[in-house]
Amino acid sequence: MYLAAKFCTVTNNSLQKDKISILAVSGSLRSGSSNEAVITTAATLVAGEVDVIIYRGLGSLPHFDGSELPPSEVAGFRRLLMEADGVLICSPEYAFGVPGSLKNALDWTVSTGEFAGKPVALITAATGGDKAHASLRLTLTALSAHVVEDATLLIPFVRSKMNATNEISDGATIQAIKNIMDTFIQTIKDQN
Ligand SMILES: Cc1cc2nc3c(=O)[nH]c(=O)nc-3n(C[C@H](O)[C@H](O)[C@H](O)COP(=O)(O)O)c2cc1C
Repeated sequence: MYLAAKFCTVTNNSLQKDKISILAVSGSLRSGSSNEAVITTAATLVAGEVDVIIYRGLGSLPHFDGSELPPSEVAGFRRLLMEADGVLICSPEYAFGVPGSLKNALDWTVSTGEFAGKPVALITAATGGDKAHASLRLTLTALSAHVVEDATLLIPFVRSKMNATNEISDGATIQAIKNIMDTFIQTIKDQN
């Protein structure tokens, strides 16, 4: 099971669409991840208004090898991207770069174009994070994604913005997440 359908209905890897759906992808595989906490906060703030589907299959995707007959995990990921009205990416920074598992997932979409024109909100939550943030923007540009300018957010020192139970607890950060989600949803509505 690589999907957690915490905020919507998922049937056979396919979304039942009765409202706007946002696929949320965390670049961290770590238990207790701050980026996962950011996604949970974002989903909670907009619950009822849109469906947020949290993708948990990043760690199960095989390494990109250019195969034209993709493994089922890749096909499932691509399908979820296609079906989503927008994609929220939340990522840490490792060694001044994008986590390999996230870059691997994005590489699987280069030739098939699931991100082309797709509205994307981008949050980088790390100690600093500026380099991964810039690098992700560059990669998303290569994928022809529609990175929504006012739906991008860098959250430095993210661990200091969490409480003991791994939730985002800093008021200004929660408000910033709310602001970009509102902008993101409005952009998707305007585009549809
Ligand atoms: C091996 C390693 C390398 C890291 N390198 C960077 C880095 O280059 N820049 C940065 O801003 N944070 C760096 N960090 C900090 C992580 O981005 C930070 O711990 C973040 O909270 C991890 O995301 P997560 O909580 O969602 O797992 C690094 C952490 C680890 C464990």
